[in-house]
Amino acid sequence: MSSVETKEATDSQWWKEAVVYQIYPKSFNDADGDGVGDLRGIERRVDYLDELGVDAVWLCPVYESPQADNGYDISDYRSIHPAYGDMDDWRRLLDALHERDIRLVMDLVVNHTSKEHEWFQRSRRRDGEYEDYYIWRDGSPDEPPNNWESCFGGPAWTYDDEREQWYLHLFDENQPDLNWRNPAVRDSVYEMMEWWLSQGIDGFRMDVINLISKAEDLPDGEPGAGQTGTEHFFNGPNIHEYLREMRDRVLSDDSLLTIGETPGVGVDDAKEYVGSDGSGLSMVFQFEHVTFDHDGHKWNAGNWSLAEFKEVLSKWQTGLEDDGWNSVYLNNHDQPRMVSRFGDDGDYRRESAKLLGTLTHTLQGTPFIYQGEEIGMTNASFASPDDLRDVESLNFIEESLERSDVQSYEDVRDAIEYVGRDNARTPMQWSDDPNAGFTEGEPWIQCNSNYETVNVERARADEDSVLHYYRDLIELRDERDVLVYGEFELLLPDHPAVFAYTRTLGDERGLVVLNFESEPVEFVVPADVALDGLELAIANADAPTVPSDSFELGPYEARVYLTPTQHT
Ligand code: GLC
Repeated sequence: MSSVETKEATDSQWWKEAVVYQIYPKSFNDADGDGVGDLRGIERRVDYLDELGVDAVWLCPVYESPQADNGYDISDYRSIHPAYGDMDDWRRLLDALHERDIRLVMDLVVNHTSKEHEWFQRSRRRDGEYEDYYIWRDGSPDEPPNNWESCFGGPAWTYDDEREQWYLHLFDENQPDLNWRNPAVRDSVYEMMEWWLSQGIDGFRMDVINLISKAEDLPDGEPGAGQTGTEHFFNGPNIHEYLREMRDRVLSDDSLLTIGETPGVGVDDAKEYVGSDGSGLSMVFQFEHVTFDHDGHKWNAGNWSLAEFKEVLSKWQTGLEDDGWNSVYLNNHDQPRMVSRFGDDGDYRRESAKLLGTLTHTLQGTPFIYQGEEIGMTNASFASPDDLRDVESLNFIEESLERSDVQSYEDVRDAIEYVGRDNARTPMQWSDDPNAGFTEGEPWIQCNSNYETVNVERARADEDSVLHYYRDLIELRDERDVLVYGEFELLLPDHPAVFAYTRTLGDERGLVVLNFESEPVEFVVPADVALDGLELAIANADAPTVPSDSFELGPYEARVYLTPTQHT
C-alpha cells in the first residue's frame, strides 16, 4: 500500500484533482556522471517537484533493458537498468516522493518485451510453457505472414532463423509482441504487476495498452495512407476482456491511478475504457489532438488550424463530461515540445508556453506536465543524423533513403526537427553550467543549444518566468473546483485566433480566453456569457481585473477570469 497519508489518500478519485509530472529518466538528471540520467539524479530533484506543486510522478521505464527503444524494450521487469541504479535507489526515490505526498506511477509495457527477455529467448527455443508466449507464424523467409506494418515503419514481422518462424512486432524488431491469447502470458503479467504494487507504487501508465489484443488469424490490413493493419490490432477483439481480467485480478484497489496509452481511440471507444461500464481505467491518453494534422503520416504534420484544434479538444471535453475523465497533455516523450508545435518558440516563447500551460490547467481533466515544459523548453536542432538517437527517426531516414523518396538527410530534416521524438529527449535544462547542469559527463544526446537562457536556475530567479507561472497555475487549480469539475463550453468555435471557453460549476463560473496568434486580436465576448462577478484569476500579461464586453488581447495573451471563491 502507498505510504501517502493525506486526507485525499482516502478518496479513490484523488487523481481528478491531481497534476501529474512525467519523468523521462534517461534525460532528467545524471548523478553519477556517465551522461545518462539516473534514479539518484531524480531523487536529488524531488524538492524541485514538490516546490512546483505536483501530486504524482509518472516515471518512464527504468527496468533492465538493452535500450533499443530507451527502455520500452524490457528484458527484466523486476530489476532496474544498471545505468539508472538498482532497486535500493528506486526504493529511496519512492520514499522521498511519498514523504512529500507525491505519488509514483510506473510505466507498464506489456504489449511487447525486449528480444532479450528470458521469455523470448525460451520461446524461440520452443522451451516448454514459453513456446506460445509470443506471436509466431510459419512462412517462407521472404514472405511475411501478413501485410501489417510496424508503428516505427517497415513490416511488423521478422524471421527468426533459430525457430525458423516469423514473430510479430508492432514496434521495433527488438520488441516482439506478447501473445495475450495465452493465459500463461496474462498470468505472468499480472504476477509482475502484483509484485510492483507490493513495492508500494500508486498506479500504472499502460503503454499502448489498446494494442494487446490482435484479430484472430491475423488477417491482412487494408492498405491506405497510414500504417497498414491497425484495424486488426487497435482496440482488438478481446481488449476489454483482458483489461477486466486485469482489473479483477490485480487492480481491485480503486485508488490506483491507471492511465491507458491508447493511440487511435475515439471518444466513444474511450468510454469503453474509462466510463462507468468500462473496463476500469482512470483515464486514457488519446491522440486525436496531436495527430489531427498528420495527413496520413506523422512526418507530414504541421498544417493545422486553431479551429480544428479546438474542435478536437472540445469533442473530448464534452464527450467524457457525463461519464469518464480526460487526461490533458500537449507533449510527452513521444511528441515534440508543445511550445514549438502549438506556440511560438521564437519571440513569444515565454508567452506561448504560459498560454499553453493555461490551456492544459483549465480544461476539464488531469493535466500532465512533461519535464521541461514548465520552463518552456523548445524543440532542438539536429544538424546531422549522427545527432539523433531515436529508433523511429533513424528508421524513417533509412527507409526514405532506401526508397529514394529523398536524396539526403537535409530533405527530411524539417520533419525530424518538427515532430521527431528526440526533441523531447534532450537533457532537462537545470542551469547554464556545461551540459545544462544535467551531467558532468558526456550526455547521451546533445543538449538544446538554448540552455544558457532557458534553464531552471534562471527561471527560479525570474518572477516572470514560465516556471513561476506554472506554480501559480497548479495552485489555482488546486484551490478552484470549477477548474477541475466545471462544465466546459467552447465559445466562438470558428474564431481563427482565439480559443475561449467557459467552465461552470453551480454558482462558480470561469472564462478562459487565449490568443493563439503573434498579432494582437480584438475579442468580443459572446452576449450569452455572464461577466458579472468575474475577476481576473491568472494572466500572462497585465490585464484589467474585471472583463469588459470586448477587449484587446496581445500576442499569445492568456487570461482566466473566475467568480471569487465562496468562503464558508
Ligand atoms: C509507446 C511509448 C513509446 C514507445 C512505444 C513502444 O508509444 O510511449 O515511447 O516507443 O510505446 O513501446
